[in-house]
Amino acid sequence: FDYDLVVRGATLAGPAEVFEGDLGVRDGVIAAIGRDLRRGREEIDAKGLVVTPGGLDPHCHIEEPSEGGGVQEESFSSGSAAALAGGTTSFICFVPQWKGHPIAATATGYEARARASRADYSFHQIITDPTPDVLEREVPALVARGIRSLKVFLTYDPLRLTDGQFLEVLATARRLGAFVTVHCENYDAIGWRIRALLEAGLTDPLQHAWARPPVVEREATHRAIALAELVDQPIQVFHVSCDEAAEEIARARARGVKVWGETCPQYLTLSTDDLAKPDFEGAKVVCSPALRAPGESERIWARIREGTLDVVSSDHCGFSFATAKRDPGSSGYGQGGAGARPDGMPAFNAIPNGVPGIETRLPVLFSEGVSAGRIDLPTFVRLTSTNAARLFGLAGRKGTLAPGADADLVLWNPDAERVLTNADLHHAIDYTPWEGMRLKGLPTMTIRRGEVAVREGVVLAEPGSGRFLARGPYALARPSGRVPDGFDAAAARR
Ligand code: URP
Ligand code: ZN
Ligand code: ZN
Ligand code: ZN
Repeated sequence: FDYDLVVRGATLAGPAEVFEGDLGVRDGVIAAIGRDLRRGREEIDAKGLVVTPGGLDPHCHIEEPSEGGGVQEESFSSGSAAALAGGTTSFICFVPQWKGHPIAATATGYEARARASRADYSFHQIITDPTPDVLEREVPALVARGIRSLKVFLTYDPLRLTDGQFLEVLATARRLGAFVTVHCENYDAIGWRIRALLEAGLTDPLQHAWARPPVVEREATHRAIALAELVDQPIQVFHVSCDEAAEEIARARARGVKVWGETCPQYLTLSTDDLAKPDFEGAKVVCSPALRAPGESERIWARIREGTLDVVSSDHCGFSFATAKRDPGSSGYGQGGAGARPDGMPAFNAIPNGVPGIETRLPVLFSEGVSAGRIDLPTFVRLTSTNAARLFGLAGRKGTLAPGADADLVLWNPDAERVLTNADLHHAIDYTPWEGMRLKGLPTMTIRRGEVAVREGVVLAEPGSGRFLARGPYALARPSGRVPDGFDAAAARR
């Protein structure tokens, strides 16, 4: 046989174009693309199907431990099964750091647990406590091991950095050629709004959005970009929820700043109407930044089409409704204490922030984007895979249909329809925010490095079969070379 596997007669959708043909796989890698390829040991007839590169989810929270001893419900085994079932063959999750502790206190155990993944994986390192030892010893060691991206939060009680701390992280990343991702919301503004809302007796899930309106996100987005511009360090703004934050990114890009923007399916499909649902159902969609007014999502789609937002991640951060979402104070992603209500439910600010979506990301985007005519197939591929690979040092290896790339493939039936329901999903969470959504276009098979990982919803990939993706230096993460007055403060403070 010439190939281990040939996918035959498909509509092959890459990041730049769509063409009909065959795809041949050898040793887990794409070996050839063309017409009438010679025989493979295994043959898949893909006539009528669309083939895309496997999804790369560059933002998901899996099995994160909290300092109190708890661990997120979503395990590497369940989260990666869900990822694969939804067409995501690789993801980047987060190694936590607890304030007052070295990175090593959390990293060693976390990396060991990640080995149970069925999908390929890499890490962003969260920095909550940028001490000299962390920045001068621990972070360089991480970068040397292929963990080349840092994550910082400008809000959340246990996580947020001051502007001064953020600058030190940016300068460290610049010296090391690492990339930085940022959660942009104004901590003090949110705290001030939360106190006023609670004092006024306004405690419903909807008030989560009132505590952090778009101006709070826009201000922090502007500030994060300005500080990154001062240091001359490339950044990506995580989970852009509103047009005015996207506008800050567009303006900075227009003046040549190396800044990128990510959004998520929740900001493209859900709204404050979902937060306002009765019977505490709104708690299911408490995430930060908050969902916006109906209509805002069409402006986010437009920001995608203009290229300002070029990655759609899941920001999967699952907390089950029966337990965590209704149990005050059971998670780290929150702010302003643990207010309770007369009915015993938590006040909006005590509901853990985050929605589950690692499995639904691609199908929801395919249906609402491609099938609904909002984006074309190459755009879908760039949003779900190619652009994240470029941003995080995996270009050429992930996110493309080209010889030499890993044979990570998703076969789609573009005409299949199904009503999305949580019972069909593989994650460990007891609900999906998209319950009842009618999907058009469904994944029928996921192939990870040339092996069938999921067939018709059945996950075949075993725990531990995923590989750690070490990432080397790459041009996109390098500074632009422009600093105010020509004075390079990050280099001078070495
Ligand atoms: O509400 C969210 N987004 N939870 C996950 C943590 C984060 O902010 O990314
Ligand atoms: Zn501690
Ligand atoms: Zn965030
Ligand atoms: Zn997140």
